[in-house]
This record gives sequence, structure tokens and C-alpha cells, in this order.
Amino acid sequence: SATPAFDLLLFGGTGDLAMRKLIPALWQAAAASQLHADGRIVALGRKPFDAAGYRVWLSEHARPLIGTPVDDASWNAFLARVDYLPLDACRPEDFALLAAKLPAVEKRVLVAYLATSPELFAPICESLAAVGLDHENARVVLEKPLGHDLASANAINDAVLAHFREGQVYRIDHYLGKESVQNLMAIRFGNVLFEPLWRREWVEHVEITIAEDLGVEGRGEFYNQTGALRDMVQNHLLQLLCIVAMEPPASMGADAIRDEKLKVVTSLRRFRARDVETKTVRGQYAAGSVHGAPVPAYREEAHVADDSRTETYVALKAEIDNWRWADVPFYLRTGKRLAERVAEIVIHFRDVPHALLPTAPGGIAANRLVIHLQPEENIRLHVLAKAPGDSMELQSAALELDFTKRFAARRADAYERLLLDAIRGNLALFMRRDEGVEAWRWVEPILEAWEADPAPPAPYPAGSWGPAAASRLLYENRHAWHEECAG
Ligand code: BG6
Repeated sequence: SATPAFDLLLFGGTGDLAMRKLIPALWQAAAASQLHADGRIVALGRKPFDAAGYRVWLSEHARPLIGTPVDDASWNAFLARVDYLPLDACRPEDFALLAAKLPAVEKRVLVAYLATSPELFAPICESLAAVGLDHENARVVLEKPLGHDLASANAINDAVLAHFREGQVYRIDHYLGKESVQNLMAIRFGNVLFEPLWRREWVEHVEITIAEDLGVEGRGEFYNQTGALRDMVQNHLLQLLCIVAMEPPASMGADAIRDEKLKVVTSLRRFRARDVETKTVRGQYAAGSVHGAPVPAYREEAHVADDSRTETYVALKAEIDNWRWADVPFYLRTGKRLAERVAEIVIHFRDVPHALLPTAPGGIAANRLVIHLQPEENIRLHVLAKAPGDSMELQSAALELDFTKRFAARRADAYERLLLDAIRGNLALFMRRDEGVEAWRWVEPILEAWEADPAPPAPYPAGSWGPAAASRLLYENRHAWHEECAG
């Protein structure tokens, strides 16, 4: 169904995220008739365009990045919704011009999407409020990174919440908008099969991986101050962990879901300095080759110092101190320039209590549920079956549900879904302040211990699966990363 009529203010309107993700997502939504006919987009940026100039810029910079064919008619119809205003986020006068541009319709939905550096969140919110753009139907969408640590995250939240209520603040974690992540909730809460087994009695350990084959892609300056723990673990990986580990919520309402996720984050066992040494691994890619093509080391990337200590890889063992998950390790890992782009969750079930049947050589002895989030979207349940032949030997075989084969319908990109949710006023897939803050509280001791550690991150060759220490982290518990298991 189409959204209500709206004005979408796109701060950072000529930036990378707008070109790569936001404008393509808005076009897709428009082309699929999801946007109200009276839904307008006002892009804001420092470039001195007029509306016509900006539309040309979009045709050159955003249109080619849309993954599907774009016909002229729908592109032009989309451009007709788009306006532009040159604006300096630090000049309150510019916001008066912005307010004057908007139709004076009371209660019209206003979404201010802040695709800017987080230092600008406070001045933008203050200036929006000063010109009355903080009304009941106004919302702000905040892009990550929401701060650099607990203190800066709190400062940003305080500054935004001085002008907007919590219910008006949409903190994006685009992983929550992925179709496959939604599906994880559907699988858990739409079936009776999994939930009874989804606990310490039956689950031995859980792996969550977000591996990327790309490097830092021209973002060296930002990335070098950020690192993989802040860029991926504090947000995307912890959000996935929450969805795997949370209790069934009371309803699918935003706060019901967010309350359950918050309980998971607050139940995560805190790391002491000694735990950081034994339960975390950080790495940095050295020169190597990815899919057969040679690539330089991280330290040779533009805007990265020769002696940079920024981690491009993290693996860690998280533990959740609650009744459902006590003593079940959750291994998380993410890295740049790994062998493949893959995001997956593997639930490793326990062995049968008493093995009646032998396992064939190379057969794997326990059930696993493998949920591929990207690039492929499928679920494989590995069960044991009889290997053909005279003897009664077990071999692992998979029951598979491939979502792209099974469901032909177009899948919306994460940003498309989240933009539509923001316009419709649905907060369920956005992070509440307390979740983000607790996540920072959990990662901070790791950041501090790494800072104090004189050793640099372990180098790993680009195109590999990360430093050897990451395998040892699991091997100590007789576990192995998914691709290290046969099958
Ligand atoms: C972003 C990170 O949040 O997520 C990037 O800042 C990362 O470094 C990206 O590449 C990964 O997202 P996706 O959707 O491509 O897996």
C-alpha cells in the first residue's frame, strides 16, 4: 500500500549514501507505486545546484547505480518529485529558506533523513526545531555511526532528544531492513519446529558471520578512525545476535521487539581485560589476492598510515548470561577483504545423547541449521540420513529452502523498506536509544583493552578467512568455523 503524503528532507543529498542507496531505494519504491502521489523529496547539500542541476546530477550519479533497468518514463516521473536546496547545516538562516519551501500543510508527514556526519546531527536538529519542523508528524532518521564510544553516543542522543521525542527518532541499522533478517524472525516465530530446540538444552553453539570481500573502498579516512568493531560489531552483528537470541516478543509492536532485544544486550557477559585477550581476535589485512586478483595491504590504502593499528577483522566469543543461553558460545566475526562476501548464521545443535549408528567417514555428526542472509538467501537444515550401501552408516544431508527460487516476487532492498517504514511511522526495525547505548557499554572494554595493548592486530592475507588465531578461538572449545567443517 502507498505511504501517506510526505516531505522527505535528505541531508547529505549529494553524498555517497544518497547516490548508492537512498535515491535508488526511493526510485524503486516509486516505481513499485509505494509512494503517495504527493510524496516530495527535498535534497539538501552544500553544492550550489538548483533543482534542475540536481536532477542532472542524479541522472549521472545515482541512476547508473540502480541495480535493475530504469526506464526513462519512471525515472522522469521520479525526478519530478525531487527538489534541491543548497544548505549549510551550521547556518540556521538556511533552515528558514527550507521551511518556506515546504507546503504549509499541518500534520503532513515530515521525514528528515540525516545522511551526514554525526557531528551535524545536533545543529541540524536544533535548526529544524527553530523553524517549527519538529511538529508531531516530524521524524528524524539517524545514520550510523551514532557516536564513537558510549560518551559520544550519549552526547548525540541528548542533543537530538532535546528537540525530538524518542518516538520521533529512527536510528538506522540497515541489517534489520534486510529481507533475510526479517525471515529469521518469521522462521523462529512462525513455526513450532524450531522454537522448542532454540535453547541451551539443544544448541551447542552459534556462529554469526558477516564476511566482506571488499576493502575500504575510498573510505580510508573514516574507516581508519573506526575499525571493524565499531563499524560492524557494535551494530550489525549485535543486532543479528539479538534476533537469534531474543525471547518471543509479546507482539510485533516496536517496543515489544525492542524490549526483548534490549534484554539480550544487557545479558551479554561483560569482558574483563583478561577476557579480551582470550576471547577476542583482531586482524588487519595484508596484501593478498581476492577472487584471483591481487590487492594491496590495508596500510597501503589511501588515507591509512603505514603503521595503522586499525582492525579490519574481528572474531570474538560472546556469552549470554540468561536461562535460555547460559554456556552456549556465540561466535561473531566480520572482516574486510576476506575470501568471499557472505553473511550467515549457523546454529549448531548438540550431538544425539546416545549414538546408535556410526557416522560415515567425513559425515558430520550433529544437526546444523545454516541461515544464509546474503548474497544467497536460503536456509539449510543439515540432518543425518543413511548413506547408501550395506552398512548402516550416517551421512549429513541438507533440507533446503531457497527463498529466491521459492518466492519470485521482487525483494525490496533494506534501505527501501526502512525508508518506507520511516514514512509510515513504523519504528520496529529501528534501534531505540537504550539498545544502542547498551551495545556501546558492551564493546567499550574491548576497545579499551585493544587501545592499551602494544601489539598490533594480527595480519592476515587479503582473500583468506582471517588470522589463524580466529580458528584457535573456536578450536579451544572443539568447535570450528563453518567453512572449516566438511560439508
Ligand atoms: C556498513 C559499513 O554499515 O555496512 C560498511 O559501514 C559495510 O563498512 C556495510 O561494508 C556492509 O553492508 P552490506 O549490506 O553490504 O552487507
